[in-house]
Amino acid sequence: MSDATNIPVATKPTNQTQPARPQLPPILEAKGITKVFGSGDMEIKVLKGVDMQLRPGELTLLMGPSGSGKTTLLSILGCILSPSNGELVINGKSTRGRNAEGLANLRRTEVGFVFQSYNLFPTLTARENVMLALDVRGSRGDAVKQAEGALRAVGLGHRLDAYPKKLSGGEKQRVAIARALAGCPAVILADEPTAALDSENGAAVMALLSEVAKDPTRAVLAVTHDHRTLSYADRIIRIEDGRIVDQRRTQDGAVEERDIHVAAAA
Ligand SMILES: Nc1ncnc2c1ncn2[C@@H]1O[C@H](COP(=O)(O)OP(=O)(O)O)[C@@H](O)[C@H]1O
Ligand SMILES: [Mg+2]
Repeated sequence: MSDATNIPVATKPTNQTQPARPQLPPILEAKGITKVFGSGDMEIKVLKGVDMQLRPGELTLLMGPSGSGKTTLLSILGCILSPSNGELVINGKSTRGRNAEGLANLRRTEVGFVFQSYNLFPTLTARENVMLALDVRGSRGDAVKQAEGALRAVGLGHRLDAYPKKLSGGEKQRVAIARALAGCPAVILADEPTAALDSENGAAVMALLSEVAKDPTRAVLAVTHDHRTLSYADRIIRIEDGRIVDQRRTQDGAVEERDIHVAAAA
């Protein structure tokens, strides 16, 4: 898929002076993903054939109205939920033919999640919350050092022993990002990571995610409603009614007006 002819027209650079970006293979590729909940009269088609790619070193934002299928898609991309049809290739590994355990293994080794509500264990310190994630991943090596390294990387080297209730919302989300990064998964998926934060903390969390995404062995996808986050994006994907309706690269944070309208309307 590194052939330039595969780039959707909407993502082709319009500025001729812009240097062509090298097309590295995607870190995550979704092909023909569908999801149907229920059956018979109660059947709801939530995803109607989604094709998308997450590229190394990029922060992609997934935007769309409430109920359009963003969380369902994120859950499928992160191997929490099985698609009704379609295939994922994550870091070169296909989901085809994997049973529930096989999918869980892929999730544990390749995916880190960040949620709106942080999902930290209240009885564990910041360091212990990150160490627990390393344990779940079956990560080898010194867990204390790795956890502390991940927390320092998100600017929380001074809060290693703090319990979640002593941390601000922005700090809790940074612990959650450290936890997602621990064990170095190739894909970081964040579902409305700034929704519970004020604008200053929300901006800091988006800045951190865009830093995290600069690693050329990693791709980050964040669902957001917040048009203030657009300037951090390398790519924006719009979903409506279970279909991708637009994909575009941003150029140095510049986004077209209509993206902002979509974000504001969501
Ligand atoms: N487990 C489920 N069973 C039935 N319907 C579901 C389930 N999960 C989500 N849906 C429906 O799928 C649609 C998309 O939901 P969701 O992916 O959460 O959208 P978004 O995150 O974009 O708001 C909604 O209509 C929702 O009610
Ligand atoms: Mg959602």
